[in-house]
Amino acid sequence: MGFGRGKVILLGEHAVVHGCPAIAVGIERGVTADAIVAERDLLRLAPWDLTLGPDAESDEPLERAFAAALALYPGRPALDVSALVDLPAGAGLGCSAAIGVAVLDAIDEALGIERTRLELAAAALSWERVFHGNPSGIDNTMSAVGGVALYRRDEALRPLHSNKPLHLVIGYSGESSSTKDMVASVGRQLENDPKRVTQAFEGIEVLVRNAKLAIEAGDHIALGQLLDLNHTILSSLMLCTTQLDDMCRAARGAGALGAKMTGAGGGGCMFALATKRDEALRLQGVLGEGAFVVEVSA
Ligand code: PMV
Repeated sequence: MGFGRGKVILLGEHAVVHGCPAIAVGIERGVTADAIVAERDLLRLAPWDLTLGPDAESDEPLERAFAAALALYPGRPALDVSALVDLPAGAGLGCSAAIGVAVLDAIDEALGIERTRLELAAAALSWERVFHGNPSGIDNTMSAVGGVALYRRDEALRPLHSNKPLHLVIGYSGESSSTKDMVASVGRQLENDPKRVTQAFEGIEVLVRNAKLAIEAGDHIALGQLLDLNHTILSSLMLCTTQLDDMCRAARGAGALGAKMTGAGGGGCMFALATKRDEALRLQGVLGEGAFVVEVSA
């Protein structure tokens, strides 16, 4: 069985595309997949009731991504891959990367190919590239590896260690968005107003560095404050929606240590940091339908 986790970027999304560090966690929810040798190449995606074949020229990104994945296996037999997606799509939880990691993991298993999770992450980047032209690599890496880690483009992943688990509540705004469009929007802002956007990235980098120390020290009060500040900077880059802002405000008002949007923004998910599991379950009620609790150990 192949598996790709969903991920939550705690701090640093968008800036990570432009070379700044980010901190993310892998979550237990994700995508499972199975591959068998068959007569023709097929990818079946449940619960979406979608069956497609590889097509490098297609307008459908999943068909292009499947073609890119299969191209990694020269001389292979035809493969029938079934994936079960347990993540909302276009919601900032790294759904597309999780599908890619699960599909490659399943194909590796069917063909008896052994590689480490980091090698699997690297292979899945060709899948991610189909979905947006300039992926930082954080989604496929966290999807394959999990845990809590500091990621920076072209550098080795740095797992973070702490003996205090993180209790997160993830809330879905109900609006989906396109990572490609949101990344392009930040790229345009950087081009048009380099001073403002570079300052925003520098601010985010300082928050990420302090958050690393806070996580390692188990100081979740400080971490919560850093999350709030990162949310404000992301708002200044026009990545938040009214709905995401309202949800973050509601979580803070209900006692969360901090709350912020996560992932590409323009919709999708936010998360809140809770002091402990009971509190996380209480906040889940505040964040409404689709909210769920995760506990992550660093
Ligand atoms: O919204 P998601 O799950 O696709 O996350 C995107 C994260 C970005 O930093 C905005 C893009 C990237 O490639 O790192």
